[in-house]
Amino acid sequence: MAAVPEENKLSYNFLGRSGLKVANICLGTMTFGDSGVKRPGQATEEYSHQVLDRYVQWGGNFLDTADVYSQGLSEKFIGSWLSKQSREQFVVATKVRGNSAVGVGLSRRHIVNSIERSLERLQTDYVDLYQMHLWDDGTPIEETLRAFDDLVRCGKVRYIGASNVVGWQLQKIVCTSEKLGLNPFISLQQQYSLACRETEFEPLQVCKTEGLGVLPWSPLKGGLLSGKYTRDSPPTSGRLGWVREDEKRASQAMPDWSALEGNDQIWNIIDALQDIAKSHGKSMAQVSLRWLLQKDVVPSVIIGATSLEQLDDNLGASSGWALSSEEMARLDEVSQPRIPYPYEMIWRLNRSRRNPYQSSYFVSNSD
Ligand SMILES: NC(=O)c1ccc[n+]([C@@H]2O[C@H](COP(=O)([O-])OP(=O)(O)OC[C@H]3O[C@@H](n4cnc5c(N)ncnc54)[C@H](OP(=O)(O)O)[C@@H]3O)[C@@H](O)[C@H]2O)c1
Repeated sequence: MAAVPEENKLSYNFLGRSGLKVANICLGTMTFGDSGVKRPGQATEEYSHQVLDRYVQWGGNFLDTADVYSQGLSEKFIGSWLSKQSREQFVVATKVRGNSAVGVGLSRRHIVNSIERSLERLQTDYVDLYQMHLWDDGTPIEETLRAFDDLVRCGKVRYIGASNVVGWQLQKIVCTSEKLGLNPFISLQQQYSLACRETEFEPLQVCKTEGLGVLPWSPLKGGLLSGKYTRDSPPTSGRLGWVREDEKRASQAMPDWSALEGNDQIWNIIDALQDIAKSHGKSMAQVSLRWLLQKDVVPSVIIGATSLEQLDDNLGASSGWALSSEEMARLDEVSQPRIPYPYEMIWRLNRSRRNPYQSSYFVSNSD
């Protein structure tokens, strides 16, 4: 593949209120390994290593995986590659909570078991960012936070973060850590894209006010925001095509076409993406990713790719160009979610009360 010009290589940001610097595009590895479900685009070990090598050629250092991706194969494929690299060069993020061979949830017991397995698969002594994959209703948050803090203190983990939480849960994590004098969470990995902005109402406000970096996942809503599907040409291949064959396969990262095709807002977003992409000579995927990269709470976007061509396309969003404030505003407006009570009322009646030293504001509204 062509050499990556210096000016297009990935840029770097601090991850939240921490001293950790990461590439502004993180390589998501959910598509590494096949756990037997025969989902299209799942990569072999060899192809996964080619993807990792290419990401490094773009100057990337930030890898995201989870204990449950392809039943541990994603971590394993990263491990066999990482063992041939200089370990310190990379920021490796993984997660715990899902149903794995050693259990489920965020109990101290499960966390300690799971990190040991992850370290083995990743062939490393430490994980740079350890994330709770999803809130666990079954475990007191104090137990989870103390276990995470212990992992930092004993050196198995460098930093800790959250994923998939609502606003009060994240605020509780922040306040409980403070009250107990524990290491703070530095990041929130959350679904965030032009097609999914409700998380701005609460969790992103907490990130903004408490200094956590937001790591958007499914930034292209499973491929939809690459613009490769139109209302009249539904998916027949790839992830969305696979879900369309059997709607029971649908999930947040794998949207169901029948819910998308009649959604006018989605097609208005795609139209705006097409116009903006054309005027920059960029792809629609790059514009979708760029919109996220220009949000002040986002230090890095987690991408997914099933081919080296998609990878190159997505990494081309990183640097060397930008959307204008008018283009950002157009995309903000066309993708604006309906703002429910009480958010709408609080935001509207506070328009004349904006205080730059005060925290509360809507990420989506520039006025
Ligand atoms: N914390 C969580 O709960 C959570 C959940 C989901 C994901 N994640 C993380 O986020 C990462 C990214 O998520 P995601 O895979 O759902 O991201 P996404 O960007 O929404 O979707 C990626 C998919 O879109 C298609 N695609 C990507 N780039 C494209 C391009 N330039 N042109 C055309 N099609 C393109 C590919 O699928 P096809 O080729 O099959 O169409 C690709 O697999 C994951 O790997 C994982 O690390 C975390």
